[in-house]
Amino acid sequence: MKRIGVIGLGYVGLTTSVGLAQLGHKVIGYDLDASKVESLLAAKPTIHEEGLENALSKLLESHDLRFTNHIEELQSFEPEFVFICVGTPQDASGAADLTIINSAAQEVALILPAGAIMIVKSTVPVGTCQKITKSFNRSDIFVASNPEFLREGTAIKDFMEPDRIVVGSNSSEVSKKVMSLYDSIDSPKLETNLESAELIKYAANAYLAMRLSFTNDIANLAEATKANVDQVLLGMGLDKRIGNSFLKPGPGWGGSCFPKDTSALVSMAKGYDSALPLVESAISSNEAAFKRSVDVIESLAEGQLMNKTIAIWGVAFKANTDDTRDSPALRIIDLLLKRGAKIRAFDPIARVPEAAGLSMASSAIEATKGADVLAILTEWPEFSMVSPEQVVAGMKNSVVYDARRILPESWRPHFSVFKALGEASK
Ligand code: UGA
Repeated sequence: MKRIGVIGLGYVGLTTSVGLAQLGHKVIGYDLDASKVESLLAAKPTIHEEGLENALSKLLESHDLRFTNHIEELQSFEPEFVFICVGTPQDASGAADLTIINSAAQEVALILPAGAIMIVKSTVPVGTCQKITKSFNRSDIFVASNPEFLREGTAIKDFMEPDRIVVGSNSSEVSKKVMSLYDSIDSPKLETNLESAELIKYAANAYLAMRLSFTNDIANLAEATKANVDQVLLGMGLDKRIGNSFLKPGPGWGGSCFPKDTSALVSMAKGYDSALPLVESAISSNEAAFKRSVDVIESLAEGQLMNKTIAIWGVAFKANTDDTRDSPALRIIDLLLKRGAKIRAFDPIARVPEAAGLSMASSAIEATKGADVLAILTEWPEFSMVSPEQVVAGMKNSVVYDARRILPESWRPHFSVFKALGEASK
């Protein structure tokens, strides 16, 4: 059992706090936002994540986990390790903005006891941990990198059952101490230098984003050539070197990580005079994918969107999360609005503010009332359980575009036009 502080209680910080406490450590999560801390202390999760509420209540009750917005409380706890989990958003140039992480590291360095290890979990450009090490005048505290690979929607499970754990530092003694926090997790464990650990995170995310762009481009080609996209991707993925996971075509990739991380990696590479044309292409292929879905919806709306009502199912960037940051659905909605469409959107969990031309419906069926086209942009499983008869009965035209390929075959006969991404419309 170790005493651990966690700085920043966003997705990564909150999951890390809960995960470490579940591993048997004593954890304090710190965030500047008093209302977030208050909510977490009342065991009310600030993010939508399976199993989180239950885990929070148990850990708060057993006093293995607590939260604070007072740095003095963290100081008097005398943490042996502090995880830095603050955001590294994209700046105007596309690079990672390190303002928050730099100031968090400075603030924490002032209160850490001698011998403590500061562990950077935030996604940071290569060289950041070295710079942080040099930025404070203390040779008695150490810095390590421990990138996070969790996915929203399965965050707690991904933390407890990771594919691998990566720890980077300047000293194998420090790496071993950090790795020992995960002793009870049975997974491949990789110790590296600081730079490699930092780059592993970006390389993994960029590779996954590239894979999705490739998948979406192949889906588009399958449609043009009348190939069956599911069979093509299955046949491709059965090659063990390729594998079938992360090969589902969709309206484009989004979320709080892939867009900012691919952009930051390209920007970082330029700084080293090193080109990453494949990642750059993946980014532009993704922009093209959003536009492709808008063009499809326009063609399904009899060739023009001005004053047409488009029902949208799903605004979250993927299913099982309430996160709409860089959501493909929002990018598509924005382009539809620019072409004059009126949007009635529904999402089981995620909410977006209503705006001119955009209203949120209280149910999937309500969203489709009077709609010219229904477009499914997030793969919530409950959408495929809705009755197609009820949908069609309320729509102006029985036209559906399934950009996530989740609707069952039984839906087809109910619609005059049924189009799934990657295949020609019926
Ligand atoms: C991603 C990575 O998968 C995690 O490993 C990483 O830790 C995380 O970013 C991060 O850097 O923090 P996440 O953003 O939660 O996780 O979402 P993903 O499940 O990777 O999905 C990203 C986007 O790709 C979504 O828009 C999703 O709908 C899309 N996607 C994913 C597909 O279109 N097809 C797929 O087969 C998989």
